[in-house]
Amino acid sequence: MIKVGIVGGTGYTGVELLRLFASHPEVQLQAVTSRKEDGMPVAEMYPSLRGRVDIAFSSPDKARLTDCDVVFFATPHGVAMAQAAELLAAGVKVIDLAADFRLQDVAVFEKWYKLPHSCPDLLKEAAYGLVELNRDAIRKARIVGNPGCYPTTMQLGYAPLLKAGVIDASHLIADCKSGVSGAGRKAELPLLFSEASDNFKAYGVSGHRHLPETLEQLGKLTDDKLGLLFTPHLVPMIRGMHSTLYARLTKEIDNAALQALFEDAYKNEPFVDVMPFGSHPETRTTRASNMLRIALHRPGDGDTVVVLVVQDNLVKGAAGQAVQCMNLMFGLEETMGLLHVPVLP
Ligand SMILES: NC(=O)c1ccc[n+]([C@@H]2O[C@H](COP(=O)([O-])OP(=O)(O)OC[C@H]3O[C@@H](n4cnc5c(N)ncnc54)[C@H](OP(=O)(O)O)[C@@H]3O)[C@@H](O)[C@H]2O)c1
Repeated sequence: MIKVGIVGGTGYTGVELLRLFASHPEVQLQAVTSRKEDGMPVAEMYPSLRGRVDIAFSSPDKARLTDCDVVFFATPHGVAMAQAAELLAAGVKVIDLAADFRLQDVAVFEKWYKLPHSCPDLLKEAAYGLVELNRDAIRKARIVGNPGCYPTTMQLGYAPLLKAGVIDASHLIADCKSGVSGAGRKAELPLLFSEASDNFKAYGVSGHRHLPETLEQLGKLTDDKLGLLFTPHLVPMIRGMHSTLYARLTKEIDNAALQALFEDAYKNEPFVDVMPFGSHPETRTTRASNMLRIALHRPGDGDTVVVLVVQDNLVKGAAGQAVQCMNLMFGLEETMGLLHVPVLP
């Protein structure tokens, strides 16, 4: 059994990890931290886990994280990098759901996250945790920077087109929408029911932290100059993410060949579903599952390809992806504990 610790178990990605681990056959929960709820049984805060998770939260200083085989950080940025060196020295692997180990360019990290990076040497050895594009590195890694939710949809949506060199990489447009759980479980005015429900708005239009992460990773797929306009939106739903990606085709390619690019790229991927050309994937077809679904369109048979991508931001966009990485890092079946069918309606 793999002994697992979770730092930040009271938040949304933390409880999603707990839900997934409740049915993972190779995981034994060792410690789940909360700074505020030391001693409270996890199932008291989350009755959905009654009878399935029998551990209590402990404060981070009491949790014996160095006794774990792997520690997940489901925390804001800055927390994992402060503890990673000690854990690695004790032989513990680290998976950070925040941004501390995502961006290899320290200057870019410091510009966007507004804090100094405390362990650039460890950052160098970290693997970026998008399994479909980086499986071999993740398998060997001691530290994984789990991708952001929007970047997961943008990378898996653009990757086959960029690798094939059939689009203008300098003018990509990503119009993305997320459910409110993407902002975490905290008391903030814009997240109140009366503010977020029955409303629809863009945010971060002039610059969002997921832009540099996506550009850094997409840059590995093409030598062409990249340009990406990324506009995130908040939609009044709890879970789910829908990204509409646009790209201008620069080569003669018919719709069947376009579709084949995606079907070939993902034919062995258990968590990427390429739907029939012209389909309209819905977020609810991924809810509470690790599936990401993609569909292609070419309006008017013109020179623009439209890629629709949906996922559950808390699963493939966060906790499920992290478990997929853990399975690889420990030589387990990649799909272990992750084969839930989406919940619908
Ligand atoms: N929500 C998503 O859809 C999503 C998707 C992809 C990635 N992420 C990333 O995943 C991370 C967690 O997101 P979330 O939505 O789960 O956030 P959240 O709901 O706000 O939860 C944050 C957790 O971190 C703990 N925490 C906060 N500051 C801490 C500190 N200094 N030391 C130790 N623990 C601390 C909190 O617990 P206590 O206050 O009880 O200690 C809480 O359990 C973030 O970096 C986020 O950007 C989120």
